[in-house]
Amino acid sequence: MRWDNLGMPIAIKSGAEIDAMRLAGRLASEVLDLLTPVIAPGVTTREIDRIAHEHMVNVQKSVPATLGYAPPGYPAYPASLCTSVNEVVCHGIPDDRPLKNGDIVNVDVTVIKDGWHGDNSRMYIVGEGSIAARRLVQVTFEAMWKGIVKVRPGARLGDIGHAIQTYAEAAGFSVVREFCGHGVGARFHEEPQVLHYGRPGTLEELVPGMIFTIEPMINAGRRDIKEDRRGNRPYDGWTIVTRDRSLSAQWEHSVLVTDGGYEVLTVSAGSPPPPVFATAGFGTPALALSA
Ligand code: MF3
Ligand code: CO
Ligand code: CO
Repeated sequence: MRWDNLGMPIAIKSGAEIDAMRLAGRLASEVLDLLTPVIAPGVTTREIDRIAHEHMVNVQKSVPATLGYAPPGYPAYPASLCTSVNEVVCHGIPDDRPLKNGDIVNVDVTVIKDGWHGDNSRMYIVGEGSIAARRLVQVTFEAMWKGIVKVRPGARLGDIGHAIQTYAEAAGFSVVREFCGHGVGARFHEEPQVLHYGRPGTLEELVPGMIFTIEPMINAGRRDIKEDRRGNRPYDGWTIVTRDRSLSAQWEHSVLVTDGGYEVLTVSAGSPPPPVFATAGFGTPALALSA
């Protein structure tokens, strides 16, 4: 995938711009909160899209960034969010098929508020979900956070990718290579590209004021992907599936580099809490040894 707006220098956001990005990030996360009770067996992804669209436009007065989005070589994206079910890796287009018990679905929402983008996604397990599906979803969540906790001034993008790849592969899963995280701000997709694999100490050095997404796509089987031509339908121009039809999961946050480390911008009341390894430091009860 080649997004637009690449080849530009990495934007360093100022204080007022960061405030605007905090608002956009919170609104993007609140759309996902709103959808949590909606996602259940029988609901269609088109209905999920409709509910989110209505909330963004009428309640938040925000703009769904994906609706009509048409990077070079792509048809205009026709919906206000992406719904990627089971073996769909990313960019699934909402349709009239009802979700069924045991499906896993990624919902990816990007809002524009006052000209600034907040981009995030979560996994939802429909009904019960197999042990294997739940483990993939959980490991992918933790892999995203393994990348987030690397974010601080002086760290490099390769540190993030390496942490994600190491964690996912140790669990027996694979990392999709063709799609990556990205700078986000006044544009949907900006520099830098944030790979979810790589070597520590390589690539761009992080500087306070950078904002980018971390959004690993992790497959239960092989890492290879393909355009979705299931059912011999003409390609919709967007939907990507695993080549081996294994399950795929993804989580996404928009993250600011701060003077002391990182700040996750896509947070709201319903955000899933970070894993213990992201919150526990030395001297906290979680790590304290009893005397
Ligand atoms: N939100 C996706 C991302 O995280 C991009 C979706 S573009 C769309 O980068 F056109 F497919 F919606
Ligand atoms: Co993104
Ligand atoms: Co996204």
